[in-house]
Amino acid sequence: EWQMDSFIDSTVAKLKEQIGDKGVVLGLSGGVDSSVAAALLSKAVGKQLTCVFVDQGLMRKDEGDFVEQTFTKLFDMNFVRINCQEEFLSKLKGVSDPEAKRKIIGTEFYNVFWNKIRENYGSGYFAQGTIYPDRIESGKGDAAKIKTHHNQVEVPQDITFEGIIEPLQDLFKDEVRVVGEKLGLPHELVWRQPFPGPGLGVRVIGEVTADKVKILQEADAILREEMDKCGYASQMSQFFAVLPGVKTVGVMGDSRTYDELVAIRAVTTDDFMTADWAKIPYDILGRVSSRIINEVEHVNRVVYDITSKPPGTVEWE
Ligand code: XMP
Repeated sequence: EWQMDSFIDSTVAKLKEQIGDKGVVLGLSGGVDSSVAAALLSKAVGKQLTCVFVDQGLMRKDEGDFVEQTFTKLFDMNFVRINCQEEFLSKLKGVSDPEAKRKIIGTEFYNVFWNKIRENYGSGYFAQGTIYPDRIESGKGDAAKIKTHHNQVEVPQDITFEGIIEPLQDLFKDEVRVVGEKLGLPHELVWRQPFPGPGLGVRVIGEVTADKVKILQEADAILREEMDKCGYASQMSQFFAVLPGVKTVGVMGDSRTYDELVAIRAVTTDDFMTADWAKIPYDILGRVSSRIINEVEHVNRVVYDITSKPPGTVEWE
């Protein structure tokens, strides 16, 4: 604990000295690492820090607003939010292959993010929330990867910064969380579950549309609310809703329905390389199911995924 206090003090001093009166720009995803890096840099250089937050409209319900509120209200910095759901969805139109979707989302992110920086902040320093395990991972090569991940951002050749700043590069995840708590980040952000870069883009199975994203956001919000209420959330490594894009027949009152299916995924794991499906009590699952069907329009059936990893992956795509 005290080591993290002295880590904060010495890092803030180092950052001040290194950055001087220059600017520094950071890509903020709303995940733990980039958020803690942002908080640390804010403490060191305040308004000299610009955080660019690309909201591709594929985040959980209200998440973009939560990130904006957190960083505009609690921290001193220049916060830039780019809302670009329409752009992303138009690029994803007609595309249903999972890897093709990942690639499109990754490329689109890269373009939107770097175009913004090129226009406005293409000098000074570039900061990243790289942590120690990321450096080990990226040294290993791609052999172990089953899905393409794109956490690490590559700087385009035509942008030349004074240097790259990675203030968390020697920390492990649990240390990063301690630093985040100490810097006053909200508990819910510091203890956040992993969330894939492509976001709900890989949880809406097949073609992604605005309507489907909306349905999934609503269902997922209910799941999270119920899991938080019963205290089960903290026992899970990760849980979320999936929209498989399958329609099934149901009955509502006197009439037959033909509507969307929602799947619930919840796992426990130490490292995400293997994972067990979580044995959530039936009464909780029951409550989640009836609330989703009653409250989310166009959903008439909920199923629970009882597949461990392997053979299943955590995500469905
Ligand atoms: P899988 O589905 O491969 O997921 O068992 C393992 C962990 O990685 C997350 N995940 C991703 N994270 N970009 C990311 O940044 C991705 O494309 C991606 N795909 C999966 C997943 O949420 C789980 O925590």
